[in-house]
Amino acid sequence: AAAAPAEKEDPFEQELRKANEEMIRENYAQALRSFNTLTTNFAHEPSAHLGRARLLELLAKKERSNQRLWEAIDGYKRYLAFGELVASNKEFQTAGESCIENLRFLGHHRQATNIHELLIKRLPEDPRLRNQLSLTYLMVNNLQQVEKVAVETLKLWPTNAVAQLHYGLALRQFHADYPKALPYLKYAVESEEEGTQEAFFYLSLGETMQRLSMKSEALEVYSKGVAKGFFASLYQRSLYNEPRLRAQPFWQPKETGYDRQLEKLTLNWRAIRDEGLALLGRSGFFEDEAELLRDKGVWQQYELYAQGRRVKDNCRRAPITCSLLEEFPESAGCRRGQVKFSVMESKTHVWPHCGPTNCRLRAHLTLAAPEPEKTSLRVAEQERTWREGELFIFDDSFEHEVWHNGSQPRLVLILDMWHPQLSAAQRRSLTPI
Ligand code: LMR
Ligand code: MN
Repeated sequence: AAAAPAEKEDPFEQELRKANEEMIRENYAQALRSFNTLTTNFAHEPSAHLGRARLLELLAKKERSNQRLWEAIDGYKRYLAFGELVASNKEFQTAGESCIENLRFLGHHRQATNIHELLIKRLPEDPRLRNQLSLTYLMVNNLQQVEKVAVETLKLWPTNAVAQLHYGLALRQFHADYPKALPYLKYAVESEEEGTQEAFFYLSLGETMQRLSMKSEALEVYSKGVAKGFFASLYQRSLYNEPRLRAQPFWQPKETGYDRQLEKLTLNWRAIRDEGLALLGRSGFFEDEAELLRDKGVWQQYELYAQGRRVKDNCRRAPITCSLLEEFPESAGCRRGQVKFSVMESKTHVWPHCGPTNCRLRAHLTLAAPEPEKTSLRVAEQERTWREGELFIFDDSFEHEVWHNGSQPRLVLILDMWHPQLSAAQRRSLTPI
């Protein structure tokens, strides 16, 4: 009998294999030409678009090019638009997830949600795809949507740990409902399931416990977080950290190396106070602290510098203070901090909390403090108070808590300063906070 004729490869398959081989051999320019030809000549073939998108994504990473990444996203979208014509669920999902990851990276979370919806529609039985959607909403702090998605997921999978986590976060941060949030956060973090083990989640659970007066339970959560490498220490729980920076709750001016600049500001404290008080006297300039850190009371601020940039209009109304600060670029130019007037009225309590980063130190120049024995700042395990004309420095990445039990407002100038051990290169390249 005659041998069966060798099966002839279909021309598309042949071209696709060639393009993939070029990619594997790292002949990227040629591979890109081949994929471009493929998507033109075989525009109806999903795998041509997928192959091209993957190559573009690889090139984007190699070239560190956002332009290329957008081309990759566009390629993935074209592939995904084939919908039911794509046979493999797995391949469809992986492509969708790559597309989402790239959109998240470029900060286009709104666009990413469309891809999430596409995946959920195709694979409605997979709770992870819904959790990914609520995570995208969490990344842009859209807690209303986080809640909505998580509630839907929990209807179908009531014990899903990630959905419980996201729901708990919404209850805590959107509704400030700590008693209701607690069991969800606790269950999720203690499950140690994938998607629940991050510093931020340990911090959220611990802070929720602290707000419910569960002090020892909170410390337990934090010490577990330390053991997992999420926190520098039990009390230092900032999330954006540089390694090996000296860390202590309070600093002496000499230790910072900024003692000359701080001394000059302190000498001028009355002029600074007068500008702060004048602004306080005009309504509408100070703004409420917006991070849900207040338990009760009134605590407002007036920003002069934010993320290393002068707040122009505000500085115009405080010219002496800002001209003094222009001589202190390590503070005014600190892209991981602010300079601001901070006023606290009587009967105020600020929950224990940590600043976001260990890259700054925070000075308070006290401008008005008529009742020092009725106010208090705790940093880690040390407490102190404010005295007019005095300046102190603390590291706000350590847990701190504030009380004002007097009857008259306390006014301070808060100045963040680059941590003195950060190099010039670090100060230039660290992302702003
Ligand atoms: C803080 O950094 O949380 C407080 O010290 C601010 C303030 O006004 O006391
Ligand atoms: Mn603080």
